[in-house]
Amino acid sequence: MNYHVKDLNLAAAGRQKIAWAEQEMPVLRLIRERFAKEQPLKGVRISACLHITSETAALARTLQAGGADVVLCASNPLSTQDEVAAALVAYDEIPVFAIKGEDNATYYQHLHAALDHHPHMTMDDGCDLVSVLHKERPQQVGEVRVGTEETTTGVIRLRAMAKEGALKYPVLAVNDSMTKHYFDNRYGTGQSTIDGLLRATNILLAGRTVVISGYGWCGRGVAARARGMGAHVIVTEVDPLRALEALMDGYQVMPLIEAARRGDVFITVTGDKNVIDEPHLRVMKDGAILANAGHFNAEINIPALRALSNGQPPVQVRPFVEQYTLKDGRRINLLGDGRLINLAAAEGHPAAVMDMSFANQALGAEYMLKHGATLKPDVYTIPVEIDREIARLKLQSMGVEIDALTEEQARYLASWEEGT
Ligand code: ADE
Repeated sequence: MNYHVKDLNLAAAGRQKIAWAEQEMPVLRLIRERFAKEQPLKGVRISACLHITSETAALARTLQAGGADVVLCASNPLSTQDEVAAALVAYDEIPVFAIKGEDNATYYQHLHAALDHHPHMTMDDGCDLVSVLHKERPQQVGEVRVGTEETTTGVIRLRAMAKEGALKYPVLAVNDSMTKHYFDNRYGTGQSTIDGLLRATNILLAGRTVVISGYGWCGRGVAARARGMGAHVIVTEVDPLRALEALMDGYQVMPLIEAARRGDVFITVTGDKNVIDEPHLRVMKDGAILANAGHFNAEINIPALRALSNGQPPVQVRPFVEQYTLKDGRRINLLGDGRLINLAAAEGHPAAVMDMSFANQALGAEYMLKHGATLKPDVYTIPVEIDREIARLKLQSMGVEIDALTEEQARYLASWEEGT
């Protein structure tokens, strides 16, 4: 079996970590039990480019139980849990191509290694796998029947491909499921970003000014959790609706150039590039901390930070904290190389929330393989009945019951004649 992981001796620790995560993933467990009986993915080759975490391992094992032939590669050079990668190779015979801290060249070699599997289906987180396939291996695109995409950034890239007619097969936008973005983006990113920030720095958040750029589902979650820890939160936005929402949620809203003078901690969650740029860096306080929770490490202009420090290399003052000293003596701390801080310095979203995201991936794979032949190349959303079923199963697993409409109420909601 071909694979590339850091050290197979880590496998036992990885297996324990996977078992711990799986305890928190009851919905995925139910899906796995059904998949094992029904084999809906039998013989399907899947190349999955995801963050290699214990939760992803639970998903890969579920796909395998459903009959799929799965290989994995990392969707980010810094997010791999090396012990999990080792366990998947050693115990589950799932080839993994991922090493935490791999350089860019190795990252892309790993994407190609996953594509050497000649997948019938791609599973992507950020659209790098689909992009490399379409750009560099067009002769292979015809072999792929369907795909899924996990995250906001990837869905944006796929929609751009579809608009230009570049996308060659149908892809399910898992991120668009309500049981994904309401929970994973908001509560998952909210908690795990603060977790990454604290593990990297151990700062006290109470009384600090935290500037959050971007008030999408992820930004809302990070802002809520930062406020919950006693931080004074400033939100910066470019979208008037989101800015208004942030204001009415009780945060201060202002342009980043103003917030830059006030912030102690800056967290970017926009999906765009150079959000924190040279003019902002020029006015920040001594000791400012910069972190990114968006998919790519493009949100903070790191070359500008280097240029402002005269090209002097930063000092590694703690794991995942690099301190740049600017020409005027101010120190700026960059966390996790500007890569997603929740996966670089912590362990990503907790398993209990990935349970729903990956239930969407597993059921989405089944759905797309069943219906793919009738779908033209475009970006799709999971049917609302599957989305609601995942929510129902999650509630059930948490021991929470809810009410049902009476017949009279259902009729009332479907009628228009009755008024005041
Ligand atoms: N994205 C964010 N958190 C994650 C996790 N724990 N596993 C896989 N992908 C993730």
